[in-house]
Amino acid sequence: MERDARRLHASSFGAAAVAYAEHRPDYAPAAVRWALEPAPGPRVLDLGAGTGKLTGTLVALGVDVVAAEPDPAMLTELRRALPDVRALPGSAEAIPLPDASVDAVLAGNALHWFDMVVAGPEIARVLAPGGILAGLWNVMDNRVGWVAALEQVGGGAAIGPRDTFGSWRAATAGSHLPKTGLVARFGSPEQDEFPHGQRRTAGSLVATLATRAGMLVMPEQERAATLGRIRAFLASRPETTSGEFTLPMLTGVLRVRQL
Ligand SMILES: C[S@@+](CC[C@H](N)C(=O)[O-])C[C@H]1O[C@@H](n2cnc3c(N)ncnc32)[C@H](O)[C@@H]1O
Repeated sequence: MERDARRLHASSFGAAAVAYAEHRPDYAPAAVRWALEPAPGPRVLDLGAGTGKLTGTLVALGVDVVAAEPDPAMLTELRRALPDVRALPGSAEAIPLPDASVDAVLAGNALHWFDMVVAGPEIARVLAPGGILAGLWNVMDNRVGWVAALEQVGGGAAIGPRDTFGSWRAATAGSHLPKTGLVARFGSPEQDEFPHGQRRTAGSLVATLATRAGMLVMPEQERAATLGRIRAFLASRPETTSGEFTLPMLTGVLRVRQL
C-alpha cells in the first residue's frame, strides 16, 4: 500500500470508535501470555491501543500496562472503558515514554500501520535490554468451510491476507520487521497461533467487518454493496442464518526480542 493510502487507512478508525469498541474482538489470553513469555519484566506498552481491546486482556493478566494511541476518539473510548489504565496520546513514531522504560511493546492489529523505518528505532529506544516487541493479529480461521466462503464473498477490503489463518504469517513476518532496519538488534522472529473465537450473530458480524479500515475508507455505494453481499451470504448459510454462533478465530503472534 502506498504511503498516502496507508496514512488514510491508519487514521480511519476514530470515526467508528464506538462501533469499534462494541464489535471488535479481544485477544486470546494464551496468545498474550506467549507474547510476553521472554519479557525481562512486567512493564508493557500497548502501542496503537485503540479502544483498549488488547489493553483489557493485559489488565486481566495482571501486567503493568501503559497504553498509547494517536487517535483522540479511540483514546476517549479507551479511557472510558478502562479508567484506571494510564493512557497517553502518542504514535509509534513518537512514543511518549522515556528510554528503556518498558519490558515489552505489544501492538494489537496495529503493527502494520506503523512507519517501521521510524517506529523501529523508537520502539528499540523505549525497550529495556532484552525487551520484547510483539504484534498480535486476530485472524479468521479459514480452514473452516463457511469462513473460507465468506472470505471470497467479502473481498480484500473486508477480509485481507492479514486477517486469515491461511495467509497471516506470510503477510506479517515478511513485510513488517525487516523494515525496522533493526533486524541485527533483534533475534529471529517467532510466530504462533492460539485458538480464539467471538460470539456473533449475522448482524453483529456484519458490524464487525464494517469497522475494518478497508471498509471505512470505501465509497458509500461500494461499502453498502459489499456489506449487502456479506449479509446475503450469512443469511444463506446454515451456520450463520439465525441466532448466535462462534466465529472461528485464532490470535496470531509475531514476536522478537531485543538482543
Ligand atoms: C485496528 S486498530 C487496533 C486497535 C487496538 N490495538 C485493538 O486491538 O483493538 C489500529 C489502531 O492503530 C492506531 N494507529 C494507526 N497508526 C498508528 C501509528 N502510527 N502509531 C500508533 N498507533 C497507530 C489506530 O489509530 C488504531 O487505533
